[in-house]
Amino acid sequence: MSYIIDFQPVGRRGPCPEGGTLLDAARALGVDLASVCGGVGSCGRCRVQLVTGELTPVTVNEEAELTAEELARGYRLACLAEPLSDCRISVPSESLTALQRTQVEGLEVPVAVEPSVASYVVALDPPTLEDLRGDDERLCQAVHAAIGIPVRLSDLEVARLATAALRRLNWRARVVLREDEIIHVAAADAPWLGLAVDIGTTKIAAYVVDLGTGQTLAARGAMNPQIAYGEDVIARLMYADKGPDEAARLAALLADELSRLAADACAEIGAQATDIVDAVIVGNTAIHHLFLRLPVRQLAEAPYVPAVRAAVDVKAREVGLRIAAGAYVHLLPNIAGYVGADHVAMLLATGVADATETTLAIDIGTNTEICLAHRGRLTSLSCASGPAFEGAHITFGMRAAPGAIERVRIADGRVEIKTIGDEPPVGVCGSGILDAMAQLRLAGVLDGRGRLTGPQVRQANGDAEFVLADENRSGNGRAITVTQHDIRELQLAKAAIRSGIEALLADAGITAADLRRVIIAGAFGTYIDVGSAMTVGLLPVLPHERITQVGNAAGTGARLALISRAQRRKAQAIAHSVRYLELARTPKFMRSFAEAMYLK
Ligand code: FES
Repeated sequence: MSYIIDFQPVGRRGPCPEGGTLLDAARALGVDLASVCGGVGSCGRCRVQLVTGELTPVTVNEEAELTAEELARGYRLACLAEPLSDCRISVPSESLTALQRTQVEGLEVPVAVEPSVASYVVALDPPTLEDLRGDDERLCQAVHAAIGIPVRLSDLEVARLATAALRRLNWRARVVLREDEIIHVAAADAPWLGLAVDIGTTKIAAYVVDLGTGQTLAARGAMNPQIAYGEDVIARLMYADKGPDEAARLAALLADELSRLAADACAEIGAQATDIVDAVIVGNTAIHHLFLRLPVRQLAEAPYVPAVRAAVDVKAREVGLRIAAGAYVHLLPNIAGYVGADHVAMLLATGVADATETTLAIDIGTNTEICLAHRGRLTSLSCASGPAFEGAHITFGMRAAPGAIERVRIADGRVEIKTIGDEPPVGVCGSGILDAMAQLRLAGVLDGRGRLTGPQVRQANGDAEFVLADENRSGNGRAITVTQHDIRELQLAKAAIRSGIEALLADAGITAADLRRVIIAGAFGTYIDVGSAMTVGLLPVLPHERITQVGNAAGTGARLALISRAQRRKAQAIAHSVRYLELARTPKFMRSFAEAMYLK
């Protein structure tokens, strides 16, 4: 027996699979409900409100995540509540995932366009009784005659499609070559496109690029669907290690999501996913291995070595990516078990590899990678900063979407907030959380150990909290607060990053004052107030002009490797030249981490 669920105001209505939760129904109907914990009832992000109908009784987890007042108003966690009748469900905007405004924005680095594939339009003589050559021979000879180089049609799948295509196109076609291999036959006026993807632990950014001009035509972002199997990569590695079915499931989730993103981005520009004839994918080493279904156990056990460190070229269809049948996917090389191809791409895009002055590059994400360029040497490490700055595990944390508090100022005890889109506040995004922490510290509401103190702090649900916007001002009738628990999460995240920075400085025998340039990459890093980042100790105190915020640099690096063979080679050289530093093995790491917890 299945019940009909009506999701409002998104306007999606349909059956909930039997025994399924509201989250299952939402997914089946294409309602992008946030589910940072993967649907195990621990993140509180999938909050919805029952308008009419009946659901299974409230669970212990829901009692922990929702206040008594919210429960009384019909709020539930979609991942735990199952319908017992047809239901109408209201979805608050803060519970919807959507493209974060900074997820796909990044540097534009001018390079000469010389992709790894080439495209030619050729006209063929149709077969006659006097000319009985096969289609393969006919095509290869026509291309050879046009470009002066012998070519081959060795991919059976491409040959299958070419026969019909050549007849349909009246023997005049666009032929795409990768080295001497014909990988695609299409209409002469069809676009030839490339796909660049940055797969993060939490988020994915995908770009469709015109391979003739190098111009990015469309960009799309999405959550990494593997989150359903673990918020951090270790949980996913352990799941994949259970057996081939589990590993295949995680790989298929990514391949399906990338295929969907590619199709959507192409539809936006009036093209088709089969017009994509080349792809470059970057991600951390764990994501890279999960995508390629490489063994992962050794990544989770000391000394954490990758199964494959070198760049990989594989047919897209072999990894389940639905683009042109003969297209290849190129995965940039990894550096170490916890510093992957996304870091290589970031170094490529930011030019850190060529830095002549001492430069620190930080890509802030669920895993944060940091590289120090000093005296011609590149040293990198990775730290597990967690998803707090992305809004996860933060009471009112949300994506950077309308209604998210993005700026906080506290002057004379008065709180001033700025929300995205100037909408009434419904939550706090990463930059707002960081600002709140810095301002609370400056106002003396937070002490050096990170404790909320003073008359403006109230107690609620067994925790201390500071109100950023009260019930009357907020957009959802709930006071938007920062809790003691949130502060602890943020302290852990910032201490992880700061102790990483200190380890690199100590390793090079320099101090923060020697840093001539600090580059901050990643969606979160783009919009943070660097003053706030220094106040809370996430970054060392430096003149602001030494700091540059560059957006999704890993995505930019993937695009560069897509449109330029020289950049692909350079990525290879970078991966070989970076020295990896294992953070946990650096001297005094624990002391440095503990010190970095303080808000000095
Ligand atoms: Fe429901 Fe996390 S997805 S609580």
